[in-house]
This record gives sequence, structure tokens and C-alpha cells, in this order.
Amino acid sequence: MNTISSSLITGTFDTDTCPVPSPEEDPLWYRHAVFYEVLLGSFADSNGDAIGDFKGLESRLDYLAWLGIDCLWLPPFYPSPLQDGGYDVADYMGVDPQYGTMDDFTDLVEAAHERGIRIIIDMVLNHTSDQHPWFQASRSDPQGPYGDFYVWRDTPDDYPDARIIFIDTEKSNWSYDKQRGQYFWHRFFSHQPDLNFDNPSVREAVKNVVRYWCRTGVDGFRLDAIPYLFEENGTNCENLSPTHDFIAELRAMVDDEFPGTLMVAEANQPPREVVDYFGTDARPECHICFHFPIMPRLFAALREESGQGMRQILAELPPLPTGAQWGTFLRNHDELTLEMVTDEERAKMYQWYAPESRMRANIGIRRRLAPLLNGSRRKIELAHALLLALPGSPFLYYGDEIGMGDNIWLKDRDGVRTPMQWDPSPSAGFSTADPKDFRLPLIDAPNWDQRAVNVQESMGRETSLLNWLREALHIRRRYPAFGSGHMNLLSTSNDAVMAFLRRDAQHTILCVYNLAGTPRCVDVTLPGMAGWTSRELAHNSPFPTVKDDDTMQITLTRHGFFWIELLAPDY
Ligand code: BGC
Repeated sequence: MNTISSSLITGTFDTDTCPVPSPEEDPLWYRHAVFYEVLLGSFADSNGDAIGDFKGLESRLDYLAWLGIDCLWLPPFYPSPLQDGGYDVADYMGVDPQYGTMDDFTDLVEAAHERGIRIIIDMVLNHTSDQHPWFQASRSDPQGPYGDFYVWRDTPDDYPDARIIFIDTEKSNWSYDKQRGQYFWHRFFSHQPDLNFDNPSVREAVKNVVRYWCRTGVDGFRLDAIPYLFEENGTNCENLSPTHDFIAELRAMVDDEFPGTLMVAEANQPPREVVDYFGTDARPECHICFHFPIMPRLFAALREESGQGMRQILAELPPLPTGAQWGTFLRNHDELTLEMVTDEERAKMYQWYAPESRMRANIGIRRRLAPLLNGSRRKIELAHALLLALPGSPFLYYGDEIGMGDNIWLKDRDGVRTPMQWDPSPSAGFSTADPKDFRLPLIDAPNWDQRAVNVQESMGRETSLLNWLREALHIRRRYPAFGSGHMNLLSTSNDAVMAFLRRDAQHTILCVYNLAGTPRCVDVTLPGMAGWTSRELAHNSPFPTVKDDDTMQITLTRHGFFWIELLAPDY
């Protein structure tokens, strides 16, 4: 154990860190980890070129360790024309020089590991950039080795039932390539052709990319857009069985060759379809699936003042295979997606959270957490308190820990990808370059101005959101039941109050939330727990004993919540 003292941000902060244990020592680490998505180019610039880089991120690792982060998720940093935030990969085996060198990357992995922080990276399997040499070869030499690497047709008629995902920019999933004189298939932008997974050489090439990155020491992958790998006429081309076969094959490969490597599924699908990406005990696929079904319902719950939508989703989900874990999140670098909710739910979400059309992107909302919740500290805390206690491992988004704002005037989803706000200086401590050279401007809207909203200010103020969140993360870390315990939904005497237990062999924690904007006094029913005593976790305050009729009366302020440890009578 070593103690790190750092004055990177403000004053001194100390944190106890241990190096990352090996996968054999802690094979289920991801079930009690807190993840943090960091957009490299927007996080910290070490060399004054106005672009965040590996060295910059490395210099902020102490801050992330102090905050209580266990694993970073880095979106793509491969060479790319950057027409889709790097998800348009032009070379799978390199790093874009603007972020540094491969040595800088492996140094970062090592430095993170020393501080007990793991790193997973994005793996974009479904498509490449049209600038990728495979596509260039495919379009210029149809008979050559890459001729069949993409999905080419003479007419744009196949797969008519596949929906268009990027409805803001795309009219069809087929685009014509003049050079080859054929149409190519793409589920996303027309500059991002889909790889042809029917071709065994593509599958082998992709596996080699995964092997290559495993050798750099990364702890795992977020598998981007995996529902769309294979196509088949007469289907919507999502979640097809060959897609699952390939994911299972990839998992078997990493389990065999790089044991302990984490696979996280980005499968934006309805509940029943998402869970298929966990696979089965006999044939596992991903360790973690992002919890797309619950996320929009959490935001809806805050407006409807009812936990009904969340309860329904939680009750609908089948038990997961051994070792599987949800990845819960509030926001990320994409729009808050509304693809998988009903038309009625979507209409309400737009009305509540995106009243202006420029707040919308594709089928979703392009805003950050704090502005979505009108800067309401109580709602932001409540949302995090749910995020940290619902079954799953939470994925935080950089900047949300300080309540960063957004800029809905920027194109695509850039408004939620602006530079991290470290301090009140004109460049926000992000870079030594002139802010007018930044790729994306700093947030300067009234109330959200980086001179007021920044890490330095937040660290120095005891009552800040940052310090509150850090405390919450540290409580969560002390109770593994939050990560891997069972969950039991509980009934309460008021629909606005949602309650559930998280439970493992050591601890039983009652999590109770008032979703309403007015106070509530409720009875929570705790079946078979009469006589159990309790204490509230944040302040260690004694709370009531469960009554003979198995209920506990709890009073919550508006948008209030408690995490309460329940102790058996003979404890
Ligand atoms: C990524 C998006 C990207 C899309 C297409 C998604 O899953 O999260 O940022 O635009 O893939 O590449």
C-alpha cells in the first residue's frame, strides 16, 4: 500500500491506493468496480497543442484515484478522420499521434495499474472508417484479399427491415461507391462501412486486433455496437444468432488466451434482447451489458414522481448467468438514447428534458446530466444514489462529478464532449494553449461557466457535489453488497417512494428514495425482518427498529434518500 500526495489540482490530497491485483487474485473485480468514461481529447492536454492526450490523463490519475474510480473506459483513440468522435477507425493497430505514442499509452496503463485503476478501451467491431486501408482496398480491388471485407451489392434492396439509427443524417443503410460501382452497407454514418462478418477472414482479422490490444496490458473492452454484426433478409438485422455465436467465440478466445479480460456489451436493445449478450453459463458472451432498459426510466421516474417504470423493468429481467453484471449509467458521450422506449414514453421524455429541438439528436437527447436536471443538486444526488445502488457497476461520465454544463449549439453530440474544467483559469486548466484554439469551446453559459464550475473549486468546498459523490463512492466501496449482492424490491406505502434491499452474506442494506419534489413519510415493508435494528450509512446514525408488523416508518425530504444498514436482532 502506498500513499499518494498530490497537489495537481489544489492543495494536497491523500489517497491510499494498492496496485491492481491479478485476474486470478480478483476474478470478479468488475462486479464491485466504479467505471469512469474519459474522452481523451477533452480531458487534459500535456503538450499545449489544445488536444487532450495520454500524458495529460496520466497526470490526472491521482485525482481519479482520490475520487474512488476503479476502472477507466477510454473511447477510441485509434487513427481516425474523426467524423464520428473516433468511432470511425482508420487503423486498428495504432494510436492517433495527437494523443501521444503507443509507449505513452502503455505507460498510462502501467501508471493506472500502480494506482489500483484498470483500463478498458473501446473496440469498434461493426464498422470502420471509409479511410481504413481495408475499405480502400475493397473498393479499388473487388477481386483482391479485401474485396469481400465489406457488404457490397449491385442494388440497395437487401435488408429492407433494418431501421436507420442515425436518422438526423442518413436516409438509407446503403450508399453508392462510384469507384467500385456498387452499394455498401452501413448501420451508422455513410462514411462508416460495416465489415462483412460472413467472411471468415474478417472474423479472424478482428480477433487479431483484440489479441493485439490484450498484449498492451489493457483490462478489457467495451464492444461497440455489437447487435449489428451480421445481416439477414427477413429480419431487422439485430441480435442474429451468428452475431451471438461470434461474441461467444471471442469470449472463449480471450478466456483462453488472455484470461480475465473484460468484455462489456454496448447493445442498445429491449430487456429480453440485451440479456442475451450475457450468454449462458455454458456459453458466456459478455461480462457486463450496459443497462439501456433502466436508464431512461430513471429519468422518467424523477418527473413522474413514481418508481413504477423502474420497478417494472427490474421485475421483467430474468436472472443473470454466473458472474454477469449490469453496467449502469446516467450519461455518456452519446445522446441519452430513447430508441427502446414506447412512443408515449419518448414523447414525454422530449417534453420534459428536450423542449428545444436542438437539445435532440437522432432518437435521443444530447444534454449532460446536470443541465438535464436543471442543476438541481437534490435531483443530481438522488440520480447518483440510485445509480450507485441499483444492481450493476456504475459508469460515470467525466465532468458529471462536478456538475459540468453542456453546449447545445455545437454539432452532433459535441455539446457533451467539451474540455474538462479543472480550474477557473482562462484555459480551465485543460491546456496551456489559447482557448480559442480548443477543438471544442469551454462552457461559458451563465450558471455553468467554467470559472465557477471546476474541479479546483469543487475540491476546496466541503459541501460540493464532488465531495458528496466521493463520499458516496467510498461508502459504496465499503459494502460489496452494492456491487454483487442480491436485490429485493420492497413495497412502500407511497408510490413516490422506491425501496429495495441489497444483500450479501455480510450486509443487508435498505435503499430508499423519495422521487417526489415534496416530503414523504412512508412505511416500508421488510418481510420477516421484525426486530432488526438499523443505522444510516452516511452518518452512522441509529434509525428505527423494524416493527412487529415488518414495517419501518421513514420520513424523507423532497428528493431525499437513505442507505440504511439493517442488523439482525442477534447481531
Ligand atoms: C458510439 C457512438 C458512435 C456509434 C457509431 C456508438 O455505439 O457510442 O458514439 O457514433 O457507435 O460509430
